[in-house]
This record gives sequence, C-alpha cells and structure tokens, in this order.
Amino acid sequence: FAEGSAEAGQTKAALCAACHGMDGNSLVAMFPKLAGQHAEYLKKQLHDFKTGGQTNGAKGRFDPTMAGFVAALTAQDIEDLSAYFAAQKSSQIAATDGSAAGMELYNSGDAERGITACLACHGPTGKGMGAAGFPSLADQYPDYIKSQLTKFRDATRHNDLNGMMRDISKKLTDADIDALTKYIASL
Ligand code: HEM
Ligand code: HEM
Repeated sequence: FAEGSAEAGQTKAALCAACHGMDGNSLVAMFPKLAGQHAEYLKKQLHDFKTGGQTNGAKGRFDPTMAGFVAALTAQDIEDLSAYFAAQKSSQIAATDGSAAGMELYNSGDAERGITACLACHGPTGKGMGAAGFPSLADQYPDYIKSQLTKFRDATRHNDLNGMMRDISKKLTDADIDALTKYIASL
C-alpha cells in the first residue's frame, strides 16, 4: 500500500467524527483527541485495536467501541486516517493549576520506588517522540490520560512494547495518577 494521504484520510474520517470530531478534536473527554498525535502512534493503535479481541494476547488493545470501527479498515485506510489526524491542529484544553507533586514525578521520576521519569519518553512539554512510538500527551483530556494510566496499571491495556507503561503504572498510587494527570493538563 501507498504512504498515508491526509487528503484521502479526510473523507474516511467521517466515520470517526461522531466521537473524535471531524478534525480529531473530540468534544467529550471520554473520547481521546487524535488531532496532532504522531502518525506512527495512531497507526500502531489502530492495528492493535484490530487484534484486540485476543484480550490475553501480548499485542492487542481491547476496546469494545473501537473494535467495531477498525474491523472494516484496510491497511491503506489506517495509513490515510493516521496521516490526516496527525496533520490536524490540537485544540487547547482548559488551563489548570497543575500539581507540584505531579511535576516532580513527571520530570524526575522516583528512584526509590523505581519510577522512570515520564519526561524521558514523553518529553519535557509532553509532545512525545513520533519516530520512537512515544505518544504526545499534551492537550489530551485529563480524564482520558487517567483512564489509560489505570488501564496500564491493571494491565487491561497491554499493547505497550516491552511492558514499559505497565511497569511504571504498577508503581503509581491513585494519588500519583491524580497528580500526574493534573500536571500533564498544565503542559
Ligand atoms: C480511541 C481512532 C472511531 C471511540 C481511539 C484511538 C484511535 C482512534 C487512534 C486511540 C487514541 C490514543 O491512544 O490516544 C479512531 C478512528 C475512527 C474511530 C480512526 C474511525 C475509523 C470511533 C468512534 C467511536 C470511538 C465512532 C465512538 C463510537 C473511541 C474510544 C476510545 C478511542 C472510546 C478510547 C478507548 C480506550 O479507552 O482505550 N480511536 N476512532 N472511536 N476511540 Fe476511536
Ligand atoms: C503511552 C503516560 C512514562 C513510553 C502512554 C499513555 C499515557 C502515558 C497516558 C497513553 C497515551 C494515549 O493513550 O494516547 C505516562 C506517564 C509516565 C510515562 C504519566 C510517567 C509516570 C513513560 C516512559 C516511557 C513511556 C518512561 C518509555 C520508557 C510510552 C509508550 C506509550 C506510552 C511507548 C505507547 C504505548 C503503545 O504503543 O500503546 N504513557 N508515561 N512512558 N508511553 Fe508513557
């Protein structure tokens, strides 16, 4: 298949608009924003949702809603949709006061508890690193960030390569997740 075309993706995105917004800026916090997310990451998620039915498999990501929508997508659709959403501008989320504890954990981790700094992979401003598969967290809905940290912690989401997010989340308390979510929302 050919490399993703944002133009072709725009037409195909009508299928996703009800939840993620026509330009990937969803209006409801339970639906993640896709606008401005790295294409490599979006592609991986869409392929992972396709194999997510195997809930005990190492690679799948299971979501009952997304499973229905990815089923009909071809590899070319995934390329095009990922190129399209990655090229959209992410809207800003409402400003928050952040969290000092969250900032400390995000930037420095916690050596005593074996928690790697989030900054190492997601970057100082939460923009991630496309080529490495590290998603952007900046301007994502806090409720969604929180839900994913919780899902990695209880391993209901287990599509992270080498278990890197599961290993970290296992060590996070509810208070840590709250603090990190607040800090990420302030980036
Ligand atoms: C998650 C793409 C249609 C509901 C996601 C993610 C992607 C995506 C890439 C993961 C985002 C991330 O990891 O940051 C698409 C595309 C669609 C589509 C390309 C159209 C073909 C829909 C529709 C709905 C929906 C129509 C609602 C009926 C959700 C939900 C999640 C999600 C609830 C979060 C799942 C979780 O918590 O793990 N979608 N989506 N999506 N999408 Fe969609
Ligand atoms: C995914 C937060 C540390 C690598 C995610 C997601 C969140 C998150 C919320 C899901 C994004 C989405 O669904 O759109 C954090 C926090 C960290 C942290 C709060 C610190 C406590 C790290 C570190 C690494 C890393 C240190 C690298 C060693 C990744 C990767 C994914 C991811 C590769 C995508 C997994 C996949 O392919 O589905 N992270 N992260 N993260 N994170 Fe982290």
